[in-house]
Order: sequence, then structure tokens, then C-alpha cells
Amino acid sequence: MANLKQQAGIAAANLAQNGMGIGLGTGSTVFFALERLAERQKTENLKFFGVSTSFSTTLLCREMGIELKDCGSISRLDMAIDGADEIDPSLNLIKGRGAAHLLEKIVASLAQRFIIVADSAKKVKNLGEKFPVPLEILPSALGLANARIKSLGGALEIRMAGACKDGPAISDSGNIIADANFGLIKDPAALGKELDSVPGLVGHGLFIGMAKEAFIAGEAGVERISL
Ligand code: A5P
Repeated sequence: MANLKQQAGIAAANLAQNGMGIGLGTGSTVFFALERLAERQKTENLKFFGVSTSFSTTLLCREMGIELKDCGSISRLDMAIDGADEIDPSLNLIKGRGAAHLLEKIVASLAQRFIIVADSAKKVKNLGEKFPVPLEILPSALGLANARIKSLGGALEIRMAGACKDGPAISDSGNIIADANFGLIKDPAALGKELDSVPGLVGHGLFIGMAKEAFIAGEAGVERISL
């Protein structure tokens, strides 16, 4: 799988051009895009700046020598490269396994081109086949979010931090991370709008109609999808 992720990451990083502002997603596939961008800085003298979507990506960029600008100071990016957990045939996505979905959505929304990189195992017919929908919730809105998710036919579960910390996983912005299981999602756009309307539910991992391009690597090579 690492090799497939690498092929997809490299293909997207090869689109970078001098002077670009590039949104840098989070995860194991984006890692390879970062590696390739750093390599192109050295071998081709490529000049660009990145905007990071997580502490995780920021640390990698520091190690690799990729210049970053603060997301809050940016109003437009040329492109953003990011991974996904599920990708449907219309390039609607579930994202947020790594709890970066809120910043990832902000950065993707700044970008003229939002480009997905993934291995072919991420393809699904319907969103919700394998993953629940990640959420980011203000602590004071947890009860409300729980009730609304229930009324939408879902089940909310707070994501636990695991061995590194007692209690819930906390996002890079200081909010609670949870997952909502809706089973197979018949109308992702409608569900996305419902989730958008819950006060204090500051982010969710449904990315509807945002990605128009993807590099998806499988055994037969890298498939380039352009809608
Ligand atoms: C981060 O929160 C996620 O949205 C990732 O972008 C997504 O989980 C894809 O990650 P991988 O490339 O590691 O599968």
C-alpha cells in the first residue's frame, strides 16, 4: 500500500509550479506528496509556500524544509493536496481519520483546485461503507450534537485518545473529536447540510462537491480522475 500511496502523492506533487500557494493535507498519502515537493525544491529549485492542515503536517514540513504560511493569513491558494478515507464515484469524500478534517476543509475551501491522493482501497460505491463520519464538536455542544445525530438516524461515539491520554481525542483546535455512524449514506449532500446546521458542531468529515480531481493508485497504475 505504501508504494501505491507514494505513486499518488508524487503525481499530485508534480502539478506544483513556481510561485504557488499549496494547501497541505494530513496523513500517510500526503506524506509522499510532501516528500516529493521537498525533493523538487532541491532538484528543480521549485519555489512555493504551503499551508498546513495539522500539527502533524507542520512538523513534517519543518523537517523537510517546506516553508509554511499561517492559514489565517491566507485568502486563496492555487491548489490543495489531501488524502481521504472514502471516495465515491462523484468524488464526494469522508475524511478525518486523523482528526484533521476541520482544518482540511478550511484549507480545501481556500484552494482553486482540491486534489485527492489515495490508493484504490479508498474507493466506495456509497459513503459510509467502511467509515463513520468524523465530527469536531465544541465541548459545550456535545449534548446538542448527540441529540441531533440521533434524530438524523446516526449514533455518535466520542473518539478516545488511546494510550497517550485518558479521555477523548482533542483536535488541534482544542475541540472534542467524535464519530457518527449513519450506516450507508444515501444522500451525502443532505446529511452534510444537516450537520452544517448544528450549532457548536464546528466540523464534519463529509466533503461534498469539493474535490474535482483525484490521483488514485492501484495495481494497474495511477488513475487520474477529473470531473
Ligand atoms: C486526516 O484527518 C484525514 O482526513 C486523512 O487525510 C485521511 O484519513 C487519509 O489519510 P491516509 O492518507 O493516511 O489514508
